[in-house]
Amino acid sequence: MKAIKRHEALKPLSREHHEGLLLSWKIRMGLKKEVAIDRIKRYCDFFFKEDLVHHFNIEELHVFSLLEPEDELVKRALADHRKLKRLFMQKQPDMKTIVAIEEELEKHIRFEERVLFNKIQEEASEKQLLKVLELHNSNKGCNMDNWNDKFWE
Ligand SMILES: [Fe+2]
Ligand SMILES: [Fe+2]
Repeated sequence: MKAIKRHEALKPLSREHHEGLLLSWKIRMGLKKEVAIDRIKRYCDFFFKEDLVHHFNIEELHVFSLLEPEDELVKRALADHRKLKRLFMQKQPDMKTIVAIEEELEKHIRFEERVLFNKIQEEASEKQLLKVLELHNSNKGCNMDNWNDKFWE
């Protein structure tokens, strides 16, 4: 698939998408190595708190809002966020939950990168997009290296 050039304002979010895809990859590696589910889940919790909650908030408040609330793509993205939050917040996660996190996260990120963000870039004005950049840059970046239990290695 031909890559569409990402607007400067959406690049920080795209970089976080890269971290998300990496999480899915780490989960797959963990499962392949038969690592205990709770070790994988602890890392998922860390990712959720450090990165994903903030990422979702930026998208929901400042990015999806550049399209109409009735937009079908926005509705789908919001439904994905709800589903992912439910999965990450599962109190007693089993193998099924971990597999669902891996699959749903990757699917959601591919959808944003290949479909939703392209539409937003086309429809939003330059001024609106620059506002997103301003807001996102003022926030700390995620720090996924601060984790000692690298079960995927
Ligand atoms: Fe999202
Ligand atoms: Fe995203």
